[in-house]
Amino acid sequence: MTTQALDEIKIGGLGASRKRVEDDRFIRGKGNYTDDVVLPGMLHMEILRSPLPHARIKSIDASKAWEIPGVHLVLTGEMMATRNLAWMPTLSYDTQAVLATDKVRFQGQEVACVIADDPYIAKDACEAIEVDYEPLPPIVNPWQALASDAPVIRDDKVSQADNVVYNWEVGDKAGTDRAFAQADVISKLELHYPRSHPSPIECCGSVADFNRATSKLTVYMTTQAPHIIRAAVAMVAELPEQMIRIISPDIGGGFGNKVPIYPGYVCSILASILLERPVKWIEDKTGNLISTGFARDIYLKGEMALRRDGKILGVRMHTDADHGAFFSDAQPSKFKIGLMHSAFAAYDVPVAHLTARGLYTNKAPGGVAYRCSFRVTEAMFFQERMVQAAADDLGMDQAEFRRMNFVKDDDFPHRTPFGFLTDSGQYAKCLDVGLAAIGYENFRKEQAEARERGRLLGLGISTMTEPLGAGNSREYDILGIKMFDSADLKVHMTGKAILRTGARGQGQGHETTWAQIVAHELGIPADDVTVEEGDTDTAPFGMGTYASRSTPVAGAAVAMVSRKIRAKARKLAAHLLEVSEEDIEWELGRFYVRSSPGRGVTIQECAMAAYSNMPDGMEPGLENTAYYDPPNLTWPFAVYIVTVEVDPETGVWDVLRMVAVDDCGVRINPMIVEGQIMGGLTEAYAMSSMQFITFDADGNCVGSNYMDYLLPSAWETPGYELHSEVVTPCPHHPIGAKGIGECAAVGGPAAFVNAVIDALTGTGVRNIDMPVLPDRVWEAITYRRDVSGAPPVRQD
Ligand code: CDP
Repeated sequence: MTTQALDEIKIGGLGASRKRVEDDRFIRGKGNYTDDVVLPGMLHMEILRSPLPHARIKSIDASKAWEIPGVHLVLTGEMMATRNLAWMPTLSYDTQAVLATDKVRFQGQEVACVIADDPYIAKDACEAIEVDYEPLPPIVNPWQALASDAPVIRDDKVSQADNVVYNWEVGDKAGTDRAFAQADVISKLELHYPRSHPSPIECCGSVADFNRATSKLTVYMTTQAPHIIRAAVAMVAELPEQMIRIISPDIGGGFGNKVPIYPGYVCSILASILLERPVKWIEDKTGNLISTGFARDIYLKGEMALRRDGKILGVRMHTDADHGAFFSDAQPSKFKIGLMHSAFAAYDVPVAHLTARGLYTNKAPGGVAYRCSFRVTEAMFFQERMVQAAADDLGMDQAEFRRMNFVKDDDFPHRTPFGFLTDSGQYAKCLDVGLAAIGYENFRKEQAEARERGRLLGLGISTMTEPLGAGNSREYDILGIKMFDSADLKVHMTGKAILRTGARGQGQGHETTWAQIVAHELGIPADDVTVEEGDTDTAPFGMGTYASRSTPVAGAAVAMVSRKIRAKARKLAAHLLEVSEEDIEWELGRFYVRSSPGRGVTIQECAMAAYSNMPDGMEPGLENTAYYDPPNLTWPFAVYIVTVEVDPETGVWDVLRMVAVDDCGVRINPMIVEGQIMGGLTEAYAMSSMQFITFDADGNCVGSNYMDYLLPSAWETPGYELHSEVVTPCPHHPIGAKGIGECAAVGGPAAFVNAVIDALTGTGVRNIDMPVLPDRVWEAITYRRDVSGAPPVRQD
């Protein structure tokens, strides 16, 4: 090192809590969302949705809508069918209706679209469309779907004779049976993880602009995966891919809700092609809550084979997942995180077996990965609820039971019971940090004393490890497209740079953190690096942002492209310093001569030389692209500990404290990481305590507005105590980072529920399903029984 080395934190490199650069425009109200896009001659589209969950369509009469002045087009399923667009393929090799032709299959399903001069005319015209429905019995849960006399929801599919989507199994059945035969104790648990909705503040929308003169289709839209949309439009609509430009401007939250392709996108594109004018579709809140990707809604049943001393011998699980009317999330058997494959990855469980069944019901398509990698949230929830039940059945301390069964620090890489290879972690250390922070021993004493005075205190522990960062391309693909990601870096002659990636942030702060990786690798101050994402005409091909894959894959690509730039800059430095490359050393932002450290050139001087003074034979410029195919997924780990007090008279429970210990490897921006954790914990708290989206017996969606589907405000949200002292760098990521975006939302819910169940120790209550509403807690305490199953439908 020479004395001239840059201070990495000062230039906004790795580890700097740099303020989010994107917030500058957001807090000034200068964000540029899809609804902000206004194009000359733009028309507006509204969707007519089905009021019924299950009905045959006898006829659709749109004549009155066509007559309304200002209406330019009415699209129905019949018209879409003439263009082979009434149905579209889903990510799971299923089909989904774009506009209903034969039947409606969930309340809120898209039946027709009107394109008019303004959204109000379009809305009025939707109401003028007369649809004659013949109601059919609605199916609102898997048990109704399985009944022998159940109507077949997907009678559009010739081979579909029942409502079963799939019946799959993974793991070692015979080995698991043997483990259970040897068990001293078998612990059992049944749960329901209720349907929830990602509910981004900005709903879905698109502005499609087809230009007949150039044959170019530009679509501004709320998508987390613009390149995949471009490929899908090219394949489904049979348009040349180079003539399609998808622009994903600022996105007001995605959380997985903006990964699927929705009928509104397809209809606005077709309308623009037919009318040769830009067409804008902006979904309203009710439309978003009742018809776009739901999450979870899965019934989980499991048992754990245990040795008397606490060793886990094996696990058996069965899941019944309610997928709604169309199977549109990622295909579980193909995309191997799709079932509960990640369950028990942090524990040394020798053998496990899982059977999984998916069912069609008369609900909007569900099962999207809401802030998680496919079914990881359900897997971690079941795992940590099961672990608590097993410890209780054995009469063991919850923390001790976990510590005893954790994968040990020296046992990595570790093969999980469902075949993943986890790479690194310090699980026991994270637990110790959490227990010390919450004051575990003291709390247990306090809890016992309080109990004697009739006060119910509880402590819940949850741990999680999540497979983040799909690919690699060997094992992961979506519809045959291999999973990897990319970064493109152009360093200008003045040493300033522009970086583009194939990822697309929705509030995670990529514009801030990607520049920090460049600063770390090249010594170019982060403020000198502009980051752009979301435009398929300029960004390199990428698979988008979901499953916390940005840092593990696109972030790694940023490091790799910076290294390519540095390699060329080294040649330029050798030329400028008139020495051979072998004699050159690198320190942050500067090359120098090994034998004479005072003689050096900065990265900015190298950049200028790339355009003005390159050696003979060298290609000019300082630009490059990297495609990164990760060798493995990254495996962050976390421990969440919650303490609560439950009021035995009312069932109301309050969070006393919440401690979070997250190990996401090297933190690029500690402040952003903390923000990600706080957001995730708040969603976990919401899911466990208040969020209520269900269906009555007639198939009506209860929870289609924010009076029924509650989002916690700052007032209800508990305070969080965050710990960052455990850092286990990812051994295969170029800067040692692991993903963090989803961890707290994945691992958090079980901590809250475990705490309430712990407070009820002695009542015999083993389970209260989420949302753990006060009336459910009261019922459990009063009748000393579990409260399980789908959340109740409010009567008021
Ligand atoms: O894919 P997504 O952006 O949702 O999740 P992520 O890759 O886990 O990153 C979320 C945010 O946290 C990004 O701005 C990351 O750069 C940042 N992050 C970080 O600073 N350090 C890490 N080890 C992981 C993520």
